[in-house]
Amino acid sequence: MQRRPRRNRKSESVRNLVEETQLSVKDLIFPMFLVEGTNQKIEVASMPGIYRYSTDLMLKEIEACMKLGITAADVFPAYPESKKDKIASESYNPETFYLKALREIKKNFPELCLMSDVAMDPYSSDGHDGLVKDGKILNDETLEILAKMSLAQAEAGVDILGPSDMMDGRVGYIREALDQNGFTETSIMSYTAKYASAFYGPFRDALDSAPKFGDKKTYQMNPANSQEALIEADLDMEEGADFLMVKPALSYLDIIKLLSDNYPLPIAAYNVSGEYSMIKASAERGWIDGERAMLEMLTSIKRSGAKIILTYFAKEFASLQK
Ligand code: PBG
Repeated sequence: MQRRPRRNRKSESVRNLVEETQLSVKDLIFPMFLVEGTNQKIEVASMPGIYRYSTDLMLKEIEACMKLGITAADVFPAYPESKKDKIASESYNPETFYLKALREIKKNFPELCLMSDVAMDPYSSDGHDGLVKDGKILNDETLEILAKMSLAQAEAGVDILGPSDMMDGRVGYIREALDQNGFTETSIMSYTAKYASAFYGPFRDALDSAPKFGDKKTYQMNPANSQEALIEADLDMEEGADFLMVKPALSYLDIIKLLSDNYPLPIAAYNVSGEYSMIKASAERGWIDGERAMLEMLTSIKRSGAKIILTYFAKEFASLQK
């Protein structure tokens, strides 16, 4: 035998030398859930180890995460039904708890890369990402609301806006609104290829944001398609996105690879709630080694071409590095 690939696997030190993919805590963005009030820390039932924090406790949690080396966080608000309406008006109310918290976080941790969510669903009484009329999700009317929300978040000091709703034209519309108002430095991480996925279930529990009727298939992508991801990526790039995101990650590694092979922008992947909960649930039952499964999953996402990973495992991963 001339060729023996096992020689390059013979010891840990040799394996380290030939290792192609390295995960770093610097690649990670930690998604976090915010609730109104003080002294609140409520575990998400379907996401063991993940909590909804009030602002005061979130500040403490962010501090702990930063001590572990985490440098970026994406904050999602959970609103009570009483604050929701058809037009998501709470989303751009300057006194709303989400915007106040973003300001507070940025003031306390100016060096943190703070990302926010731009979509109607946390504030919508219909539980949809767009304005609903006669059972239809309107596109262009939704853009105006997204622009107002984006300006309010940029004003609060957010570093990266995350439009997560898959409306057509939103990146360009938001970019123009930002630039016209002097927010030329606020970045946009577009949810470029976001699929209509069953893996968002636990997230919708966390935010009580499930759609009140129907599903999200007229705006989120069909899991069977990859060509459309190229169309979405073309548009987002033209419209001025700074990052392209694929979501979910695990069932869409081919899409991550497709975009990273074809676009020079940094590719992000969202390792979503269901992907987290699947590992946690089977590890709790002793069916799987949770820590190894986490590392393998995150490595596969990076190997497939994601430079950045949004993951609920961020803190756990960071703790292992210390
Ligand atoms: C909605 C939004 C969703 C997630 C992030 N933003 C869910 C949805 O589209 O219903 C999912 C994140 C996750 O599952 O971790 N704007």
